[in-house]
Amino acid sequence: MGKKDIIKSISYNQHKIIKDIADLYNDGETEFDLDITYSEGKFYGGHNYVNENGEKETLLIKQPKYKCDVAPQFDDVIAIDPWGSLPFDDASIQTIFFDPPFIISPRTCPSLLEDTNNNCKTFRRFSGYYPVNELLDSYKHWMEECFRILKHDGYMFFKCQPTVTGSKELNSHHWIWFVAESLGFDLLDEFVLLTKQRLISGKVDKQQHARKFHSYFYVLKKSTKKKIPYLNFMKNEEITVFVNSFIENNKGRKNGENLKYRNEIKPQTHVMTRNEKEKYFCGKENEETDGGNDFPDYTPPLSIMENASEELLKEDNF
Ligand SMILES: C[S@@+](CC[C@H](N)C(=O)[O-])C[C@H]1O[C@@H](n2cnc3c(N)ncnc32)[C@H](O)[C@@H]1O
Repeated sequence: MGKKDIIKSISYNQHKIIKDIADLYNDGETEFDLDITYSEGKFYGGHNYVNENGEKETLLIKQPKYKCDVAPQFDDVIAIDPWGSLPFDDASIQTIFFDPPFIISPRTCPSLLEDTNNNCKTFRRFSGYYPVNELLDSYKHWMEECFRILKHDGYMFFKCQPTVTGSKELNSHHWIWFVAESLGFDLLDEFVLLTKQRLISGKVDKQQHARKFHSYFYVLKKSTKKKIPYLNFMKNEEITVFVNSFIENNKGRKNGENLKYRNEIKPQTHVMTRNEKEKYFCGKENEETDGGNDFPDYTPPLSIMENASEELLKEDNF
């Protein structure tokens, strides 16, 4: 392979990225098994491309074997339910493309219905999610479904893009990495699709964030051997045992020398219940079990750990 042929992580052309994905992850074959957000099928067909040397090329991406969408636009596209299963057996598919909506907006908001200036073109064409957690939940749902139907070494190619909603950055690609790795996918590769043009809303008076001129194609490989269960948090009893034994094990290190932290850290007697955590972090109250009690004396277990490590570091024990 010469320098000119090297596959790069960035491109201004999405068909070039799809061709590169085919070369690296599908033995050069541009026919993929399944696209579950087929829509108008813009990923496929013949496309002109000017390479870095200014030479014209035609990139041919074959139609996928199976096509699905929640709102099919062609007869050969299978209709799927937004929260349903994919109509395929477990471990039966080798490659899947997924290109879901990334816009957060109520589907019935007046500015959308009366969009005379065409500001909401992308939303109306591809739909969107509302509120934010619907997007996160939906992405998780489809990653789980794809994981189920993929063969043991199959690939999911996830097109995603950061956005801004309610004046906050929504870096959904971080969520995708986290959920994917927790399920047992390995994030093998990341292609950045750059663009020179974007629709600019006339509504914004003062810009707060950089307008995003890029999106990603994430390459996720089903790979249970490397699974890291990030989403399996320690149970309360396990945290108590862990913290108490940490303190116990570090008492009197350095041949019984009385370390400074020894008298300052008390063993853990209370750890947050799930309801308490929800209330503390999410402002939720579960009336059934905790009756909305306050817990002003609560000290999160982690703060004990932090104090402990600070003291240990001061003493130069580690
Ligand atoms: C960005 S478009 C896909 C464009 C497509 N790759 C193409 O080349 O034409 C997003 C697609 O996601 C579908 N969609 C909308 N809501 C969805 C949901 N909740 N779950 C899965 N797909 C959804 C839309 O019907 C639309 O076809």
